[in-house]
Amino acid sequence: MDLIFSRKNMEVLLDYIAEGVQIIDSRGRIIYYNRAASELEDIKQEDTIGRHILEVYPSLSPETSTLLQAIRTGMPSFQVQQTFINYKGKKITTVNTSLPIKANNKIIGAIEVSKNITDVRELSERLVDLQERLLHKESGPKQKRVKDSAGYTFIDIIGQSQEMLILKGLAMKASQTPSPILIYGETGTGKELFVQAIHNASPRRDKPFIAQNCAALPGTLLEGILFGTVKGSFTGADDRAGLFELAHGGTLFLDEINAMPMELQAKLLRVLQDGNIRRVGDIKTRNVDVRIIAASNTDPRAAVEGRQLRRDLYYRLNAVELRIPELKERKGDIPLLIQYFIDKFNDRLGKNIRGIASDAQSSLQQYAWPGNVRELEHVIEGAMNLMDGQIIQIENLPPYLRRIDQSSGKYGKSEKTVSLKRALEDYEQEMIRSCFEACEGNVSRAAEELDIPRQTLQYKLKKYGLTKCTGRI
Ligand SMILES: Nc1ncnc2c1ncn2[C@@H]1O[C@H](COP(=O)(O)OP(=O)(O)OP(=O)(O)O)[C@@H](O)[C@H]1O
Ligand SMILES: [Mg+2]
Repeated sequence: MDLIFSRKNMEVLLDYIAEGVQIIDSRGRIIYYNRAASELEDIKQEDTIGRHILEVYPSLSPETSTLLQAIRTGMPSFQVQQTFINYKGKKITTVNTSLPIKANNKIIGAIEVSKNITDVRELSERLVDLQERLLHKESGPKQKRVKDSAGYTFIDIIGQSQEMLILKGLAMKASQTPSPILIYGETGTGKELFVQAIHNASPRRDKPFIAQNCAALPGTLLEGILFGTVKGSFTGADDRAGLFELAHGGTLFLDEINAMPMELQAKLLRVLQDGNIRRVGDIKTRNVDVRIIAASNTDPRAAVEGRQLRRDLYYRLNAVELRIPELKERKGDIPLLIQYFIDKFNDRLGKNIRGIASDAQSSLQQYAWPGNVRELEHVIEGAMNLMDGQIIQIENLPPYLRRIDQSSGKYGKSEKTVSLKRALEDYEQEMIRSCFEACEGNVSRAAEELDIPRQTLQYKLKKYGLTKCTGRI
């Protein structure tokens, strides 16, 4: 065991991890510096050993160095963001975990693990700057640009199932109030679509719409991005407005809210309660008027139980709670969605696809769609990219969706297990399709041929997504 944990082995191991690791003795002298740390600072390992930490990091002080703090206080600190200028003048941001090392109740040194987040920070700040510039364009173009960032409206949300109709009604009502909204639904169900539609139907539609994914940034950065920062604070930040200030008068969409660190959730709750934000490192507060829409791709009650979402924040957010059903819960919408995506990609790919073959469609109808509408959209896009004819055939679908048993030509489930209802529907669909095509898309004639009322035929054409097969109904 001792052999395995020998100093040499540990040093080799520490040289292979991506985080910087530094160890100092009780007087602040560097006694260990791993390879990632030396790459991060652009300094040779041997040039650091034996030197005082402030000698190597001249922009830090005994108060701002997290390692020296650990020695002075004897307390560990976790995930603390630190920004400093390295000896070459480059601004570097790290997230550090620092632990004092004790022996016989005496502090003999400290160890620190640092993750370099300079690039992430620069990128996210650049995004905020861009957003700001976009929002401050002169009035004419501004209105358009701002709207562009939230392009979807309720018209773009396809779905006629009972659940979707109710949901759209609720969302429409909620769009008229300033209360926070919590939207949840599995991946690909259309959360972003709803959020944008709500903003665009709200009295705030000409004001900014800003979206931030809470899982995309480390918590320490997220705080600065949301609330802004002031210069001179020990984090080494500049004077910068946060997204709350930029979204003033408009809507701020916080996606994957359950990924936001708990302490930050507490700060968010305070903003929701009193409408005031405080930039990181600032003493004064600023009033903002921002409508918050939060989204979660897990059930928020489970997130509360699992301690990913603060209970008090949940109760504040769920004044309006909208759950978007999974696609498998509303399979009746599949034909409509298929047709919608065919139209969309006809435009985009410059194609003229007219519909989908019935066996291909029933295959799509049977599938469970774990990726929901997004997965369906990609399947249609993929099929349309590769095909030559005008009707999507089962061969154009990805292999996992080809439910045909090649040897018998029947559904892979074996014929016996196909319910009578399904078999009749398939038969009906095929009959309607061929008659409708033979009548060149003339509904009245096809209805006469089939001996059913015109309205019934129209309903069935919609149900089976056959409306576009022949161009008109
Ligand atoms: N009801 C719908 N009608 C038309 N298109 C839809 C619908 N629902 C989703 N889509 C499309 O599916 C894709 C995924 O939707 P969206 O990005 O809103 O999902 P999401 O719920 O935010 O997913 P995630 O949790 O993975 O972020 C988008 O291209 C969107 O346009
Ligand atoms: Mg989303």
